[in-house]
Amino acid sequence: MSSSNAPTREGFTTTLGVLAATLGSAVGLGNIWKFPSLTGQNGGAAFVLVYIVCVALIGLPVMIAEFIIGRRANANNVGAFKKLAPTKPWYLTGVAGVVAAFLIMFFYTDVAGWVYSYAFKALTGAFANADSTQTADIFSQYIGSVAGPLVWQWIVLVVISVVIIAGVTKGIERMTKTLLPILFVLLLICDVRALTLPGAFAGVEYLFKPDFAKITAPVILAALGLAFFKLSIGMGTMTTYGSYIGKRENMPVNAVRVAMADTLVSLLAGLAIFPAVFAFGFQPDAGPSLLFITIPAVFNTMPFGQVFLTMFFLLAAIAATGAMISLLEVPVAYLTEEKKWSRFAATIFSAGSMGVVGVLATLSTSTLSEFTVFGKTFFDLFDFASSNVLLPVGGILICLFAGWKLGPATIIDEASNQGALNNQVFLKFLTIMLRWVAPIAILLVLLNGLGIFKV
Ligand code: TRP
Repeated sequence: MSSSNAPTREGFTTTLGVLAATLGSAVGLGNIWKFPSLTGQNGGAAFVLVYIVCVALIGLPVMIAEFIIGRRANANNVGAFKKLAPTKPWYLTGVAGVVAAFLIMFFYTDVAGWVYSYAFKALTGAFANADSTQTADIFSQYIGSVAGPLVWQWIVLVVISVVIIAGVTKGIERMTKTLLPILFVLLLICDVRALTLPGAFAGVEYLFKPDFAKITAPVILAALGLAFFKLSIGMGTMTTYGSYIGKRENMPVNAVRVAMADTLVSLLAGLAIFPAVFAFGFQPDAGPSLLFITIPAVFNTMPFGQVFLTMFFLLAAIAATGAMISLLEVPVAYLTEEKKWSRFAATIFSAGSMGVVGVLATLSTSTLSEFTVFGKTFFDLFDFASSNVLLPVGGILICLFAGWKLGPATIIDEASNQGALNNQVFLKFLTIMLRWVAPIAILLVLLNGLGIFKV
């Protein structure tokens, strides 16, 4: 059992700070890279609709459950389970979360490095007048090289380490509070630009006019998987952040705000991308390369394209940074509290290992592209093992832990601030979702992801 926390345990200081940090975690490459690419591959508005339902019915309850576990225990992701269930192996859920944080970071820092370098390339005019064949060449040349992507990956790690070493209040809270508004403004500017292009409306329709025939089982499962990744749930990021939330904060309301604002950012990213894609006659279904190949080509065809392209990659870099900070904080909180390391040592060790093992992901598109484990490159393996295995398993365990082990009385006590908030009816509904609906739904995603059960 972990010893009680030092009285100086840091936390988020204001309601706005709680929102900024948790929203800063949720908003990331998921909104700007994964959401548009999956929407484009799964037929547009129908996918968006299903995604929103998944966020509301599954994602939101799991996020609230993580907040409850974290704040109730006032401890890191492993310590939290040890405190709330001292004699049981539940803490392994927390351990799996720490492992997942590393796995996600191995490849996330790689893609974040591409985004940083693209912001820089756009700024220096590297894409000026390039058409989509040329932007495709630039991309494959870049990810096929060794030094560039590695250097940018390490720059990314240095940036987030500085924030994490600065601490929960002065690092995470202050950083996200400053950067999120900038992100919103940049995104809105890109939206106005894209939406005022002639022919933009086709992109709006693509996002908002669902063709219900396109709602198939794989579409539902892809949407649920994205909801997990998007909301940073299933591995203890929100548990860790929940432990920094003050006892008087309204956690369910914060979770609703995060889910809504995060979805809004995804839609705004879609509105910056699809109208432009349609206006210039590009295909929406390019997948992961949409951001890196299609977008530079699309922005090139519009007036002041280079300026908007730079802004777009800058906002993507900001989003990715806030998300990675929350991922790095998970092992750092664990090492400082459970292993009594200094924050500095814990950060250097964690970011250092991410940088060393992350090389395997980064070289997956160059030197190691032929090297596969279970038929996957390291990049795909890390992505698959975290998104398709650890996040759903963690999600199920979190639902079961909150719904059955803690149980309705504790859930209602913690999430209503000991009855001070008048949200008991909502919390009763939440309990049902956590006990039954969410775990069963997630189990289906998991089995599908593993290919055990195909729909
Ligand atoms: N939500 C972030 C994004 O959309 C990524 C992220 C941060 C994450 N923390 C997480 C994903 C924890 C899964 C689990 O980019």
